[in-house]
Amino acid sequence: MTDWTEAQNWVGVRGDVSSATTLPPATYTDAEYFEQERLAIFGGGWCGVAMVDEVTAGKVIVREVAGVSVIITRNQQDQLRGYLNSCSHRGTELVEQDGPIDKVLRCPYHRWTFDLDGTLISTPLLDRDAMDNFNPDDFGLRKVRVDLFANVVWISLNREVPDITQWFGDLGERLGGYGLERYEMRSTATFAVKANWKLLTENFQEYYHLGWVHPELAKVSRVDDHYRYQGPGRYCGQTTTPVSNGDNGEWTGLQNASGLSPSDAQSGRHIALFPNVMLTLLPNHACTFILEPTQVGQSREHISWSTPHEPDSEDLKKLTDFWLLVNNQDIEICEKAQRGIHRGRFSGGRLSPTLEEPLHRFYNMLADRFEGIDRCPDGDRE
Ligand code: FES
Ligand SMILES: [Fe+2]
Repeated sequence: MTDWTEAQNWVGVRGDVSSATTLPPATYTDAEYFEQERLAIFGGGWCGVAMVDEVTAGKVIVREVAGVSVIITRNQQDQLRGYLNSCSHRGTELVEQDGPIDKVLRCPYHRWTFDLDGTLISTPLLDRDAMDNFNPDDFGLRKVRVDLFANVVWISLNREVPDITQWFGDLGERLGGYGLERYEMRSTATFAVKANWKLLTENFQEYYHLGWVHPELAKVSRVDDHYRYQGPGRYCGQTTTPVSNGDNGEWTGLQNASGLSPSDAQSGRHIALFPNVMLTLLPNHACTFILEPTQVGQSREHISWSTPHEPDSEDLKKLTDFWLLVNNQDIEICEKAQRGIHRGRFSGGRLSPTLEEPLHRFYNMLADRFEGIDRCPDGDRE
């Protein structure tokens, strides 16, 4: 069995993009790799699990990360809180599915009860007097790190990784002018995709395929108007400046966010947040993709559209229809890529240093996590 924490497995992607290879094909097809990746990438650092709109006060959600079930909710002060989904009495699953929550979390088994800060506050019928050394304070829920970034709820099962703002480096500042906290989720869609999650984010990171796979998008986001958009931080990105109107006003019906800088007001930002979130930001909306690996060759893609102003329903439908058209084209090509890599016994390839540099950056972030190197990639050279 390959031990993917060993540096020798990643030599191909190291060095300069002009000489580097694509990822080892086994990283898309091998079930043993997939298990190691769950621990190293999804269990080993921050990963996106939900939109902020899904965890408002009075709601609880359950997400599985690297095989671990996590409850996310808000405490009385409206702060996000994450806990392992297991009762501290005899381990029972506390929450089965997303839904409303009272002011407490109550175990369905023997009704041990926790407040929303995870403190054990009630143990019905328990004959505590007959127990030695039982201190309820030692039996609170076990906390999981949870934070917000770009309107996405992130969790980390690893206490050692830096906090979320450090993880993304200068990206918070770059996105600061959008005022994303004012955006609300207006529509969602979920797709089961027969491709490894990495193929979806890699595809998002390059515009090499734009003209051939997306004839409609290529009029809005023209190949010649793409530039790299990467500072020091764990993300890969490009910008389309200026973003064009397209033939049919596909996205222009909605009202722009207020107070945008001249650059933000005329750009489309396409940012892959490491590891599993993709964000497209246009002046009047955000489209966020959260990737959930399900099997080595299969993923679930959760898409949401958020806008700073309440949209007209027809304009919103026009917008989401446009992105769904583009997304279906992406899914189709990624599924072909998965099949070719797997069934065509692909043995590895090379990247365009100009059009596919973000992939090289992504491969190196991935390799760093496996090798236990805590490193934030540098920004682009001018
Ligand atoms: S297992 Fe939860 S109260 Fe007993
Ligand atoms: Fe695409």
